[in-house]
Amino acid sequence: MEKHKIAPSVLAADFTRLGEEIDLVNQSEADWFHLDVMDGRFVPNITFGMFIIEAIHKMAQKPLDVHLMIVEPEKYIEAFRQVGAEVITVHYEACPHLHRTVHQIRETGAMAGVALNPHTPVQVLEDLIEDIDLVCLMSVNPGFGGQKFIYQTLSKIRKLREMIATANAPTLIEIDGGVGLQNAEALLQAGADVLVAGSSVFGAKDPKATIAALKAFERKFS
Ligand code: DX5
Ligand code: ZN
Repeated sequence: MEKHKIAPSVLAADFTRLGEEIDLVNQSEADWFHLDVMDGRFVPNITFGMFIIEAIHKMAQKPLDVHLMIVEPEKYIEAFRQVGAEVITVHYEACPHLHRTVHQIRETGAMAGVALNPHTPVQVLEDLIEDIDLVCLMSVNPGFGGQKFIYQTLSKIRKLREMIATANAPTLIEIDGGVGLQNAEALLQAGADVLVAGSSVFGAKDPKATIAALKAFERKFS
């Protein structure tokens, strides 16, 4: 079984020293940079867009995993791809024509991700799962870093794992929100492939060691 991935969420980085924070992730065992784009409409917060992502892309030595918490994401897929996104994740709740949007992402050459809010059941993706490269299960309500992990996510992971196995699809399961050393092992055992970690990494005394510790957990699910 392939080793799980760690995707530090830059939202929790110190933006007055963004270059150093990017460098830290470059030097670490992390696999991806997780970048949270918020528009103040889909979620009650505004973060950054193409401009900052382009700057990060210039320094980043690892793929950019771009999480779009915006309405009408289909309007900006090409633009995010152009500034370096390798994974583009849209929200199920923001996409009335999800099939079209997922294929639009794939046509740019990026991996297509779909995120589900905590209250959205995984079954809504049953008829599209083979076309999705990554499902991001939100384990907090999207909008802010540093929130408490919602424990019901664990059973959603197991259900999604089953759905993916039934479809015999290579879809990755990503968990986003409240992830850290305290719950990483349980998430991996339930079937997670990618762990997003913001405050638990950038808020740690030694972020690089925390990334290494998150990476060191074993996966035992079958
Ligand atoms: C929340 C974002 C998350 C956030 C995670 O809306 O999608 O990626 O940065 O931060 P932590 O790990 O601090 O919960
Ligand atoms: Zn995110």
